[in-house]
Amino acid sequence: MPNQLLKGKKGIIFGALDERSIAWKTALAVVAEGAEITLSNAPIALRMGKINELASLCNAKVIAADATSTTDLENLMQQSMEHHGGKLDFMLHSIGMSPNVRKNISYTTTSYENFLKTLDISALSLHRVLQVAMKADALNDWGSVVALSYIAAQRTFPGYNDMADAKALLESIARSFGYHYGFAKKVRVNTVSQSPTVTTAGSGVAGFDVFYDYAEKMSPLGNASAEDCANFCAMLFSDYTRMVTMQNLFHDGGFSFTGVSTPIVEDIIKGRTA
Ligand SMILES: NC(=O)c1ccc[n+]([C@@H]2O[C@H](COP(=O)([O-])OP(=O)(O)OC[C@H]3O[C@@H](n4cnc5c(N)ncnc54)[C@H](O)[C@@H]3O)[C@@H](O)[C@H]2O)c1
Repeated sequence: MPNQLLKGKKGIIFGALDERSIAWKTALAVVAEGAEITLSNAPIALRMGKINELASLCNAKVIAADATSTTDLENLMQQSMEHHGGKLDFMLHSIGMSPNVRKNISYTTTSYENFLKTLDISALSLHRVLQVAMKADALNDWGSVVALSYIAAQRTFPGYNDMADAKALLESIARSFGYHYGFAKKVRVNTVSQSPTVTTAGSGVAGFDVFYDYAEKMSPLGNASAEDCANFCAMLFSDYTRMVTMQNLFHDGGFSFTGVSTPIVEDIIKGRTA
C-alpha cells in the first residue's frame, strides 16, 4: 500500500513503547511512506521498552524526553533538527498515563496529586510540545501535529477515570493551539479519536476487554486497529490534508455515530431468554 506519501518529510514520533503501541505502528507506517523520523519517549520507557528494536527497523535516532519537562523537549527539538539537518514537518503525540488508573483509585475518590499528573502527562504535554516547537521554530510551514484521543472526552465511560478529563483537555488544546499555530505558520493541529486498542496503556483501563468487545459490536466497521490508525496518521501528516486543522477526527469504525446496533440488540434479547 505505501505510496511515498511522506517522501522528504521529517518528524518526531512520541510514545512507542513496544510493538503494540500505536506510535510503534505509526513509526513503521510513516517510514514506509518515505519519511525520516526521530523517536522519543520518557527516559524510564527507554530503559524498559523495546524502542531500540524499532529504531533499527526505522533507521531512526532515539532521543529521551519526559513530555512534562520543557528542558527535555527543548533538547529533543534542537537535537532532532540537527540530526535531520533542518526543520521538521510532523509530530505524533501518542502519550498517555494516569496514576489513578494505574493504582485503581476510582474517579469519585481521586487523589488530586495523581489527577494533576494525569493532566500534565496526558494533555498539557501537547501544549508543551507545541510551545517548545513554536519557540524553536522547529516546524516547517504547513507542518502537521496529531495527538491521540478517545471518545471518553465526549461521553462517559466510567472505567476511563480521569483520562476522560485529560482527553477533553487534550482536544481543547489541539483546537486552541491549532488556531494560533495556523495563523502563525500554517501548522495544523488535530486529534484522532481512536477505537479501543490492545496496548499497554489501553489494557490498563478497568474493564477494557468488555468495552473493547462492546465497541466491536457497536461499530459498523468493527474496531479500528492500531495499523489502521497508523495509516490515518500518515495521511494526516501528508499534503493531502493541508487544510484540515483544529479537528477531532473519529477513527472508530463508525462507533461515535451509532446509537445502537443489531448485534447489541440481539445480545440483550438472548440475555432475556437465557
Ligand atoms: N489503546 C487504546 O485503547 C487507545 C484508544 C484511544 C486513544 N489512545 C491513546 O493513544 C496514545 C498511545 O497509547 P497506546 O495505546 O499506544 O499505549 P502505549 O502504552 O503503548 O503508549 C503510551 C506511551 O506514553 C508514554 N509516556 C507515558 N508517560 C510519559 C511521559 N511523562 N513522557 C513521555 N512519554 C510518556 C509511554 O512511555 C508510552 O510509550 C495515548 O494517548 C492513549 O491514550 C489509546
